[in-house]
Amino acid sequence: MKNPVVTGGAGFIGSSIVRALLKEGAQRVTVIDNLRSGSEKNLAEVAEHVDLHVVDIRDYDAIAPLLEGAPKVFHLAAIPSVPRSITEPVPSHTANIDGTFNVFRAAAEGGAGRVVYAASSSAYGDTEVLPKVESMIPMPKSPYAAQKLMGEYYASVFASCFGLTTTSLRFFNVFGPRQDPSSPYSGVLSLFMRCLIERRPPTIFGDGEQSRDFTYVEDVAGLCLKASNAPAAVVSGNMYNAGNGGRFTLNQTWRILCGFEGVEIEPVYGPPRAGDVKDSQADTARAVRDLGHAPRFSFDEGLRLTLEWY
Ligand code: UD1
Repeated sequence: MKNPVVTGGAGFIGSSIVRALLKEGAQRVTVIDNLRSGSEKNLAEVAEHVDLHVVDIRDYDAIAPLLEGAPKVFHLAAIPSVPRSITEPVPSHTANIDGTFNVFRAAAEGGAGRVVYAASSSAYGDTEVLPKVESMIPMPKSPYAAQKLMGEYYASVFASCFGLTTTSLRFFNVFGPRQDPSSPYSGVLSLFMRCLIERRPPTIFGDGEQSRDFTYVEDVAGLCLKASNAPAAVVSGNMYNAGNGGRFTLNQTWRILCGFEGVEIEPVYGPPRAGDVKDSQADTARAVRDLGHAPRFSFDEGLRLTLEWY
């Protein structure tokens, strides 16, 4: 039996999926990662169970042999940033659309068992009502959101036209240990954590009243595994929200974090960010029904565990 494959497996979320797979009983996991935003450090204590291939998903010939016969493929590799897709649209497009097409094509041609695709809550855009349900018409507001939506469409047609079992999970603002705060494009919670530790004010884009369904990384990794084990007849070609079901504004979140440390630091407010969604909250009913989704970490617990790590 060949190993499961995680593209982007040296990244923040991908490396959690690698750990979850090993915990579930996989002997080894194959990781495909170009190490641009991922890092070998993320796999340090499991390295002896990982076959790391430093290749780019834009290179079809390099990835095709690695996906051949894989029982499960988790496709996480991407340039995952709304603002970066606006400042650097070309690499964002080629990685997130061309690279994603390559992964589905290689999986289909190589007879892979199934692909679980990391889609994004950004595909919804600004909806009139919350929470956001899978049946809503997507309204992407940024190149990144459009690219992630295109990946879902490919997942669905690779299932219907090429007989590949695929499932898309729309991740809702994932956070947790190993999220890298070193880039201006980093997830907001990793940037907040670093500001808190260094006792510096964070920059908040807009009035801070935008809200997010922050979802702890282990819950998302767990759901990815559930999607990979669910009956193909139920989940193939489908898309599910991968969120916690709650939402917190950035102002609330910063206050909670300051409360943990017993400090009061006023954020600095800047202009709103282009492509930003106002509010985000997942309806989790479909994922609960078909995948047995059961988030284990409250926002408070997730924040505490993450802060300990930083
Ligand atoms: C979006 C997607 C998310 C996806 C992620 C990939 C939505 C609702 N979510 O996240 O599913 O996984 O892209 O990157 O579209 N902010 C600040 N100060 C900072 C940094 C960010 O105020 O220093 C603000 C942003 O303007 C935004 C919020 O924090 O309003 C969250 O930003 P970020 O963590 O980058 O994620 P999203 O763009 O929401």
